[in-house]
Amino acid sequence: MAPISALLPAAIIELMQIPVTVVILAAGLGTRMKSRQAKVLHRAGGKALIEHVVETALKLAPAERIFVVVGYQAGEVRKAVAEAPFGSGIGFIEQKEQKGTGHALMVGREALAGLEGYVAIVYGDGPLLRAETLERLVERAAAGQAAGVLLSAAMDDPTGYGRVIRGAQERVTRVVEQKAATPDERAIREANMGIYCYRADLFWKHVDEIRPNNPAGEYYLTDMVEILNRAGHYVEAVRIDDPGEALGINDRVELAKVDAILRQRKRRDLMLGGVTIEQPETVVIDADVRIGMDTVIEPFAQVLGKTVIGADCRIGACSIVRDSELADGVEIGPFTIVGTSRLERGVHAGPFARLRMENVVEEGAHIGNFVELKKTRLGARAKANHLAYLGDAQIGAGVNVGAGTITCNYDGLRKHATKIGDGAFIGSNSTLVAPIEIGAGAYVGAGSVVTEPVPPDALALGRARQVVKEDWARKHRALHKK
Ligand code: UD1
Ligand code: CA
Repeated sequence: MAPISALLPAAIIELMQIPVTVVILAAGLGTRMKSRQAKVLHRAGGKALIEHVVETALKLAPAERIFVVVGYQAGEVRKAVAEAPFGSGIGFIEQKEQKGTGHALMVGREALAGLEGYVAIVYGDGPLLRAETLERLVERAAAGQAAGVLLSAAMDDPTGYGRVIRGAQERVTRVVEQKAATPDERAIREANMGIYCYRADLFWKHVDEIRPNNPAGEYYLTDMVEILNRAGHYVEAVRIDDPGEALGINDRVELAKVDAILRQRKRRDLMLGGVTIEQPETVVIDADVRIGMDTVIEPFAQVLGKTVIGADCRIGACSIVRDSELADGVEIGPFTIVGTSRLERGVHAGPFARLRMENVVEEGAHIGNFVELKKTRLGARAKANHLAYLGDAQIGAGVNVGAGTITCNYDGLRKHATKIGDGAFIGSNSTLVAPIEIGAGAYVGAGSVVTEPVPPDALALGRARQVVKEDWARKHRALHKK
């Protein structure tokens, strides 16, 4: 058998041989978010900003070589990282006081300096960065003798960014922050994206030389460029065409912009993977959602959380599907809400249905308009086509639930279960007072209030007998005639 390396593209093999530690800076509060929540916990594209960055980092390094610098709301940020897919082995560095991007690395010296190879530095608030771009940076650093490589981009308006000062052989001699820049330096359009790959040995040897010699009194990571130059090394820059990729989020306007970009990327990936999305710009699909081939997503639908949808499904216009599992050939009609439910092959639900939580709908079952399900199992080919509430119910195969059926699952104190056997027929407007059991093949007459168990194949009638008074209406009218 061929070795596994024969199956991988050359670039990935090379990269795997470059030991790299990824440090994610995420200690800042993000004042301009005007939030009680740390910036990196805000969500875009369906997950926290930090989760996107962690996912990217994991494409370059194993969890043991990824470290997140935490400070503001450290506990919550740690939790988000640890709970991210494959995030459990990721390390943390506590930066109690945020004294600048350089300081964020200085506090990690002890934990990180022993790790050989390269150290890549990224921001927790920059979820658009592609793993391929970071790979390019690492490859460039590993290919030559540079002490480090930074990511830059020529921007039409680089206001707010550090400017990249180039010297002989296009090498970078300095990065100057906006505030400290002279008018000439400010005119430079090549901006520092704040993403780096340094040789670990040189980086840790010199990092403590960063001094807070600037109006802000902060330890600037950007000073490393000059420090390494002074020590006789050189630094290079990899220029990217699209500065948008390194867009950091500072306020909620930028959060919305980044969200839109992430969602567009997701829809594009799905469409290229064989999913039809009608009027894609109206459709919201979270980052971790998976959808099978030839499924159609109609306008204004939202597919959220960890939802997995099979092939040949249809998600109706304006529907919301969250954290659910839909097998092949499932049809969700328009304006239908599905939460934490499992729908087996060929199920139809909606329009205007609500599958609230923890439901299992078995193969070929139908759920129609204004039907609500909660913690209910609806058997194969069963039907609840109109106006019903089915809560805490186990409903067998082929059961027909008539229009207006209600499971009275709550007595004001506790919830109770309803059980309906295979093939039973529940007449319209039945009130099933739980706990209650209706046997297989039984009939419940329309309009019944059912409080006693119904044996299999029986007929239950629980309603007042009809009274007909001949001629009553005519007499009534005559009596009241003026
Ligand atoms: C930084 C760069 C600037 C670059 C820009 C790109 C410096 C001094 N400047 O500026 O050249 O153009 O990024 O976006 O590095 N953080 C910490 N601890 C701290 C300070 C910051 O973890 O003590 C984190 C923040 O949470 C944030 C990131 O580092 O995620 C960047 O910090 P920020 O203050 O936004 O740097 P910029 O001023 O944008
Ligand atoms: Ca920033």
